[in-house]
Amino acid sequence: MLKDITSELKVLIDKQKLDSRIHELAKQISTDFKNKPVTLIPVLKGSIFFAVDLAKELDLIFDMEFIEISSYGNDYQSSGNITVKNDFQGSSSDKHFIIVEDIVDTGCSLSFLTQYLKKFNPLSISTCILLDKPERRKVNVATNYVGFTIPDKFVVGYGLDYCNHFRNINYVGYLEN
Ligand code: IMP
Ligand code: MG
Repeated sequence: MLKDITSELKVLIDKQKLDSRIHELAKQISTDFKNKPVTLIPVLKGSIFFAVDLAKELDLIFDMEFIEISSYGNDYQSSGNITVKNDFQGSSSDKHFIIVEDIVDTGCSLSFLTQYLKKFNPLSISTCILLDKPERRKVNVATNYVGFTIPDKFVVGYGLDYCNHFRNINYVGYLEN
């Protein structure tokens, strides 16, 4: 059984800060895409808590399509070897795609996804990221909406996992190196 790391976690972003920033992001996206056809594309699994809270606050008419990619080499960093795991139903070419991701670290996943989604001929592709870890970037990638810029720490909670666990922690915490 996996060791419980909950008591070792330090709070980086508490629930109140998450809520109020997500409210701001939703307001901005609702303004920018007013009266436009939107497909929200949460990236499974990490973005799911963020995507649901964001979606509930969007003042837009939109559909949702989920995409699942595998990118992790080990527990702490991306392998850079990325594949799409599900049969993504990129419905039509008359939508603005908004990718919703939990975190951008090296940038490999988001860069891959942006390229992959181009083949569905969307009207545009934007990215909405909860956490940006710019210090570890390897690939230059556009981030249109960013919740928080964070230091180079391994973070857990609010969708982000350690060994596929602890996603349900209702704040973003980190493990001290
Ligand atoms: P990238 O391809 O290196 O940008 O990594 C992006 C993916 O790696 C994210 O979608 C997360 O699933 C995972 N990831 C990166 N940093 C962390 C972290 O600090 N905690 C948990 N998952 C992370
Ligand atoms: Mg992820």
